[in-house]
Amino acid sequence: MADWVEACGVDDVEEEDVIRFDHGGRTFAIYRSPDDEYFATDGYCTHEKAHLADGLVMDDIIECPKHNGRFNYKTGAAKGAPVCVNLATYPVKVEAGKVMIQIG
Ligand code: FES
Repeated sequence: MADWVEACGVDDVEEEDVIRFDHGGRTFAIYRSPDDEYFATDGYCTHEKAHLADGLVMDDIIECPKHNGRFNYKTGAAKGAPVCVNLATYPVKVEAGKVMIQIG
């Protein structure tokens, strides 16, 4: 059963930025795109255990802070070496000024 969980307020994330969200012993990353949509992925890079929330958001790309691996944070697609395993993504909705993510 997948639950919707409140991750943050809509203003807690700047446009074209990412924040970390911890829940139930897991870490997620919450993104706000330049066109003002919200997305969620696993919080750790699939290469080594680096926090993607410490990385850099450019358009629809998150660049890992550790070895500059890149993912599309909208689809989770790994964009080349050193990252080859896609990132898990999670459904997001905005309700009453809150960003909600659905986690399995
Ligand atoms: Fe992210 Fe290596 S830990 S690219």
